Amino acid sequence: EGLFTYDPGFMATSSCQSAITYIDGGKGILLHRGYPIDQLASKSNFVEVCYTLLFGELPNEEQYADFESRIRNHTMVHDQINNFFKGFRRDAHPMSILCGVVGGLAAFYHDHMDITKEEDRVISAIRLIAKMPTIAAMSHKYNVGQPFNYPRNDLSYAENFLYMMFSNPCEDYKINPVCAKAMDRIFTLHADHEQNASTSTVRLAGSTGANPFACISAGIAALWGPAHGGANEAVLNMLDEIGDESEENIQRFVDKAKDKDDPFKLMGFGHRVYRNFDPRAKVMKETCDEVLAELGLADDPQLKIAKRLEQIALEDEYFIERKLYPNVDFYSGIILKAMGIPTNMFTVIFAVSRTIGWISHWHEMHSDSYKIGRPRQLYTGHDQRDYPKK
Ligand code: CMC
Repeated sequence: EGLFTYDPGFMATSSCQSAITYIDGGKGILLHRGYPIDQLASKSNFVEVCYTLLFGELPNEEQYADFESRIRNHTMVHDQINNFFKGFRRDAHPMSILCGVVGGLAAFYHDHMDITKEEDRVISAIRLIAKMPTIAAMSHKYNVGQPFNYPRNDLSYAENFLYMMFSNPCEDYKINPVCAKAMDRIFTLHADHEQNASTSTVRLAGSTGANPFACISAGIAALWGPAHGGANEAVLNMLDEIGDESEENIQRFVDKAKDKDDPFKLMGFGHRVYRNFDPRAKVMKETCDEVLAELGLADDPQLKIAKRLEQIALEDEYFIERKLYPNVDFYSGIILKAMGIPTNMFTVIFAVSRTIGWISHWHEMHSDSYKIGRPRQLYTGHDQRDYPKK
């Protein structure tokens, strides 16, 4: 008793065995089921990556067609969910709506909920992958006071999400194929990242045998923070705060980030695991240039600030010594903004993408024997003492 390894932040603790994702932070390598992320991002698509993460192998044509059609079958949410939305304030942050509504799905699905059965776990996974874009787009529509759009199953996963986000009864919304491809890539690049804070949260919640929708809701809560999934939103807020693209002004913010008496950090910089470069950021940067060129935004002042900020930081001793590089969220925020997605939806989109990672880890955990997650602590409080009142 009492002799436990003290490892704050789990810097040196493996909490599980997993065959899903491999990261070598020093070399900037990220593999899903053995496949490098840059190859998946350029040659595969999000639905195929979902299948591969969940089942361990790339699907053949028939398996892909079957998986995709099962996802399409589950894109709608129960009509009662519309009423659930009405309980939120219109100005509620869409992440708070997402936490509530996804957790609330547990109240809607009572069939196929035996977590000891593989087929039931797969049905929960498919329901979640299919419904997340619908719920995410509904939370945006609710915010802006427009009617919800039902999913369109003739569209691809990414196209359908853009349609549900942007279409309205007064306009004929045209999906830009460059934006749809970028959206699919954003989903793919965020699909999984081994035992990060939100995935560990899903595993911990799942280790009690909790309902999968409740576990994913716990993951969404953990993702929300600015040190994790909230960083993409924080990047844009930071670029807004910097405001002026003059050299001295940008330098002032870089100096602020280096000042240990100032809590300000360069959002979108640094990563617990990547100490060389973030391989996702490399692909995201290319996509960022493609989208901005397509939309005629290459001279966007915010983008100019981002590019100059990146240059100044990458040449600065402080960032070089600490191996701090732009991470995936530095560029994803800029792309999403260019596509007209409001800042408060950025982390929601991260959650839509990461759902497959969360549920694949939950599925893997339940496919084998596992123990309830129960860390210990170093107690620093009082010794035993008597209660003073008679
Ligand atoms: N700006 C300025 N200094 C920084 C930054 C930054 N963005 N990130 C780390 N540092 C410093 C930190 O102060 C520390 O300095 P010192 O050694 O002098 O005390 C050193 O670099 C090491 O940092 P750390 O905080 O010990 O590293 P960590 O592994 O605990 O934290 C992190 C990683 C991602 C939380 C952190 O780098 C950070 O807060 N970055 C900004 C937020 C961000 O972009 N998060 C998204 C991560 S990628 C998406 C995802 O996976 O969710």
